[in-house]
Amino acid sequence: MDLNDELMQYIVGCIFPKYEKYYSHGMTHINSVITNMMMLADYYGLDKNMAYTIASYHDIGLNIDRENHEKESAKILKNDSKLKKFFTEPQIGTMAEAVEDHRGSRKEKPRNIYGECLSDSDRDFDVSILAKRQLATSLKNYPQLETFEDHFERCYEYICRRINKSGVFNLWTSNPILIERRDKFQKEYLNKNYARSIYKKEWDRISNDGTKEKIINYYEDY
Ligand SMILES: [Fe+2]
Ligand SMILES: [Fe+2]
Repeated sequence: MDLNDELMQYIVGCIFPKYEKYYSHGMTHINSVITNMMMLADYYGLDKNMAYTIASYHDIGLNIDRENHEKESAKILKNDSKLKKFFTEPQIGTMAEAVEDHRGSRKEKPRNIYGECLSDSDRDFDVSILAKRQLATSLKNYPQLETFEDHFERCYEYICRRINKSGVFNLWTSNPILIERRDKFQKEYLNKNYARSIYKKEWDRISNDGTKEKIINYYEDY
């Protein structure tokens, strides 16, 4: 089944522009989540329109309330009357639940398969991408931290909390492509000196090219 043209046009025209002033959660991130999500939708035989929609809406509530952005994003999806043209009430309920359950810090399994796939699609199993997104989030939310070392230690500790009881970075689904990506990432990331060197490179870049100031003063996502 292909994506509904009208739905896609609506999302591209009216939802994507809302990510314009987001940095860590801008369109590069959203497009990467969409790509992963469509791969998982294919693998698990899920509804492609639902998969595309939840990936597109999942971080939209970030400028409202970071700590509860998953709930704000779910609310925006649920209250979007335009979506009623494309989905049934139960489908909208399933999608809202999935968006609400996407956080990587969440310890309980998402309530439905769409939520499991969305959460796994949202993971950055790439040290450079993670460094870029996480340092920005850290600068925005922890202005009291002064040095690179302070930010790096906080970031590193935060991500390591996602290692589950089996000793691996948690995944809810078992798609072989994501597992392979996770395993490669895990090997690199747990070499802390290597991870630090990648974060430091990114830190120096954003300190020297004005991006750091822009993250703090211009971008709206946290
Ligand atoms: Fe998120
Ligand atoms: Fe996200």
